[in-house]
Amino acid sequence: MNTEPKPIYGDGNPETHPLTWRLSKQEHVRSADDYETLEGYAGFKKAIGMQPKEVLEVIKAATVKGRGGAGFPAGIKWSLMAPNDGGPRYLICNADEMEPGTFKDRLLMEKLPHQLIEGMLIAGYTLEATQGYIFIRGEYIEAAQYLNEALEQIRAKGYLGENILGTGWNFDLHVHTGAGRYICGEETALINSLEGRRANPRTKPPFPQVAGAWGRPTIVNNVETYNNLPAIMLRGPEWYIGLSAGKSKDPGTKIYGASGKVKFPGLWELPFGTTAREVIEDHAGGMRDGLKLKAWLPGGASTDFLAAEHIDLPMDAESIMKAGSRLGTCLLMVVDETQCMVSATRNLEEFFARESCGWCTPCRDGLPWAVKALKALEDGTGKKEDIDHLQELTRKLWIGKTFCAHAPGAMEPLMGALKHFRGEFEAKVVNAAAQTSNVEQA
Ligand SMILES: Cc1cc2nc3c(=O)[nH]c(=O)nc-3n(C[C@H](O)[C@H](O)[C@H](O)COP(=O)(O)O)c2cc1C
Ligand code: SF4
Repeated sequence: MNTEPKPIYGDGNPETHPLTWRLSKQEHVRSADDYETLEGYAGFKKAIGMQPKEVLEVIKAATVKGRGGAGFPAGIKWSLMAPNDGGPRYLICNADEMEPGTFKDRLLMEKLPHQLIEGMLIAGYTLEATQGYIFIRGEYIEAAQYLNEALEQIRAKGYLGENILGTGWNFDLHVHTGAGRYICGEETALINSLEGRRANPRTKPPFPQVAGAWGRPTIVNNVETYNNLPAIMLRGPEWYIGLSAGKSKDPGTKIYGASGKVKFPGLWELPFGTTAREVIEDHAGGMRDGLKLKAWLPGGASTDFLAAEHIDLPMDAESIMKAGSRLGTCLLMVVDETQCMVSATRNLEEFFARESCGWCTPCRDGLPWAVKALKALEDGTGKKEDIDHLQELTRKLWIGKTFCAHAPGAMEPLMGALKHFRGEFEAKVVNAAAQTSNVEQA
């Protein structure tokens, strides 16, 4: 185990750490000129020397997967965008990042704002977009400021506006700050919010690729997804796929992270398929103060708890799914043996209940029920039936039972906690003889 924090950029080699290597040269790269001396905008310039369709083929060949949590391949999403009819076409960056324990997009935007912008320029050119928006969480004040400054710098260089670098392509980018709601991260709620409406999710289909912002074709991708594109353009899809060769079928590197009682909470760019043990022990320095790992969430609050015995799993979509969880954002949250699983789960469910947009009944009413039952178990007034009701809620709020993925996401840590730590829930029932559950009294 390391005794000092490790840098995010590893050895600072652009061939192995394409997302963060520049940070080994400068603490942050916020000036367009500095970024350009470090290969900046070279991927974009290569892209505009090609036809948009050719660039799309490069991104498809790289099989780059979305980094917002669901892992959908970016090239496939882009191919589903409605054909250009000469009207407005929108490109959106999802920078809402309110998933508890997830802070990777913030670092990328604060330290490397031009890398996101370059990724969006490549995507915008490929998709023949006319306007782009970075929808950023309102609390990310500094990131929004650095992005706005970066946009001003490249507007002066002719990388935004009309007839960009003589290509005949007109495109501009804007930073839009959200008001700080988790549901604004759901892509259709984000679009509603961007349009000035209440941030409720929309029905799908139609998908945003066909009818998104203002009813026009729209692509939404995560901050980290766009950050992958400049190096793919520069070094090619085979190099990109090779980054994780032998470790995982998921291509490229990923910003992994760890929070909770580890020695060095932080972020590290590592190849897909790095094990949870390597992240926790080699990079985060292991558990703090001699504490023992009890449970962990693989990628944010909306993933299923796994147990300490799962620590040797490679952190990629397939391996984590086989173990009964979801890769999510790859930012691990650890729970140590002194912590109570009922309280840890209640803490997360309180967040989800508060952040429900209230549009559909199972989520609006079901999540507060879960919190009530968990609180009762915590304070010693819980009944055995409360545990059964919690288990039932994980089915009643599951995929297809609610309007969007918020409630099923909220059920994931609860399901994992009940699956691996049910004994802790049962040990909280002090009056096992009582018949009426707290949920029925609600
Ligand atoms: C409740 C909820 C919150 C979400 N929050 C975010 C978020 O903060 N950032 C993000 O990129 N995706 C978030 N997503 C996923 C987005 O809907 C969408 O799938 C993603 O932005 C697509 O980008 P990608 O394909 O590059 O991963 C959220 C989804 C749900 C259901
Ligand atoms: S599941 Fe929750 S967040 Fe999603 S639409 Fe229904 S109430 Fe809103």
